[in-house]
Amino acid sequence: MYLVVGANGFLGSYLIKNILEQTDETILAADLHCPEKNNDRINWIKCDITKEADVAELNEKTKKAHDLKIIYLPVFFNVNKNPANDKIAWAVNVTSYARFVDVMENVKVFYSLSTDMLFKTSREIPYTEKDPIDPMNDYARHKAIEERMAEAKGYNIVRLPVMTAPSLSPVKKHFFDDVVSNLRNGQSMQFFTDSRRSMIDFDTVAKTLIALTNTPEAQKEPVLNVAGDESLSKYDFALRLADKYGLNKDLIIPVSMDDDTTIWKEKRPKTVLLDNTLVKHLLGLKELKMNI
Ligand SMILES: NC(=O)c1ccc[n+]([C@@H]2O[C@H](COP(=O)([O-])OP(=O)(O)OC[C@H]3O[C@@H](n4cnc5c(N)ncnc54)[C@H](OP(=O)(O)O)[C@@H]3O)[C@@H](O)[C@H]2O)c1
Repeated sequence: MYLVVGANGFLGSYLIKNILEQTDETILAADLHCPEKNNDRINWIKCDITKEADVAELNEKTKKAHDLKIIYLPVFFNVNKNPANDKIAWAVNVTSYARFVDVMENVKVFYSLSTDMLFKTSREIPYTEKDPIDPMNDYARHKAIEERMAEAKGYNIVRLPVMTAPSLSPVKKHFFDDVVSNLRNGQSMQFFTDSRRSMIDFDTVAKTLIALTNTPEAQKEPVLNVAGDESLSKYDFALRLADKYGLNKDLIIPVSMDDDTTIWKEKRPKTVLLDNTLVKHLLGLKELKMNI
C-alpha cells in the first residue's frame, strides 16, 4: 500500500496516475484539498499535516497496512524572506515533518523530496550526493533539516531539480501551462538563456520514485539525485515546448540573468546541475531525460 501525502499537488498527481497504471497497489492519498475520486484502489483523505489529529488519523488508517510505502510531498515554498510567512514555513517544513516521521509507526519505505537549491554556487560540474551542501534560501535550509531528520530515521531522500509538465489538476496551473497558453495567445515571454538546471518532467520523476520504492538496493542510499541528463536553460525548455505544440518561437525572447531584475527577486546561481549517475546505476537506466 502507498500513502502519498500532498497527493493533489503537481508531482503527487503524477504519482497517483503512475501508481494506478503501473502497480496493483492501493493508495491512501492525503492532501489539504481532495478531489472526489475514491474507488477500490484509491482512498482520498483530507489532511493538514500541521494538525496533530490529522497525522494521528493517517497513522491509524495505515497501522495494519502491509508493506506501507510513504511518499511525503507537502512543502511551504518560502524562497523570499517574508516575516509573515516565516512561521508558517517553519511549521509546515520543519515542525510538522518532525512530528510526521515520529508519529507514523508502520513504515516499510519512506521517501521525501529535496532540492537542487541546496547548492548556491554556480558550477558546470554536476553536484553528486556526496558534495557538501550550501543552501541558497530558507526553503533549502528547511530541506536540509528534513534531510537530516530522514537520515536519522533511516528514511530516504530524493533530490530534485526544477520539474515541469502540464498540471493534471483542473484548478491549479503550472508554469508549463502558462507558457503554452501565453504563446498560443500570441503573447511573448522572456526566458533566461544562462540559468541552467538538470530539468526533468513530473511523469519521469514519478515513475523513477515508484521504481525506487520497489528497489531495496536503492534504499540503502540515504540521498539520491533524480535529475535529467541534460543541462537545460528555461529558454531551451521554451523552445522544446514550442516545437512540441507547434507554437511561434519568435514569441520566446532570450534574456540573460545579468540583464534582469524582475523575473527572480533574489540572487540565484547560474548553473546548478545534479549528477544522476547513481540512480541510473541502481535502477539500470541508460538515460534519464526530460520528456515533455
Ligand atoms: N516542483 C518542483 O520543481 C520541485 C523541485 C524540487 C523539489 N520539489 C519538492 O517536491 C515536492 C512536491 O512538489 P510539487 O511541485 O508537487 O509541490 P505542490 O504542487 O505544492 O505539492 C505539495 C502538495 O502538498 C499540499 N500541502 C501543502 N501544505 C500541506 C499541509 N499542511 N498538509 C497537507 N498537504 C499540504 C499542497 O496543497 P496546496 O496546493 O493546497 O498548498 C500540494 O497539494 C515538494 O516537497 C517540493 O519541495 C519540487
